Amino acid sequence: TTFVKGVVAMSGLPPDDRPEICFAGRSNVGKSTLINALTGRKTLARASNTPGRTQEINFFGLADRYLVDLPGYGFANAPVKVVEGWQALMKAYLSGRASLRRAFLLVDARHGVKPVDEEIMALLDRSAVTFQTVFTKIDKVKASERDRVLDQVRTALARHPAAYPELVVTSSEKGDGIADLRAIISTLE
Ligand code: GTP
Ligand code: MG
Repeated sequence: TTFVKGVVAMSGLPPDDRPEICFAGRSNVGKSTLINALTGRKTLARASNTPGRTQEINFFGLADRYLVDLPGYGFANAPVKVVEGWQALMKAYLSGRASLRRAFLLVDARHGVKPVDEEIMALLDRSAVTFQTVFTKIDKVKASERDRVLDQVRTALARHPAAYPELVVTSSEKGDGIADLRAIISTLE
């Protein structure tokens, strides 16, 4: 895996000549960490405990495709104007990228789907981009809690035509679900 490019404007996107899979979700949900777990490179995508860490669209080459790390949405530790800029870029990318095969939409297993997630889901519905929900940080919840939140998420997904029905449950910390996710990525042409 290689870092290809960090993009701050739609005009800077690399040519859309290969399948792309992106990682979207609220700030701090674990997008960058998940990309690191998938690629087996701990520091490839920069992660941190500060929401708003990723402020560009970062492209990584994996085999013949791109993995795309997006800035998060929701709360961020940065000036409002700056946040607005990267949010607009993230939304423009999600609604206008021809080579985007699937969006992984990450949801914290403790928190479930929030109204801001549903806004992004609605945008993906309108853009006809299939999205698949990925539970993150499953190491932080008890099984009973996990099942309650899973029910909440399934109910939310039923409202969204672009939702892929199957969820993936992951822990980048412990490795749960990482092999499953790799297998899914390898099938997307
Ligand atoms: P932004 O770039 O700010 O949107 O955040 P992000 O979604 O890229 O989150 P990031 O990968 O930077 O991770 C945020 C924090 O969550 C970091 O402190 C990670 O170590 C932690 N984290 C991510 N995944 C897991 C996980 O599976 N388990 C646990 N326990 N912590 C995790
Ligand atoms: Mg990030």
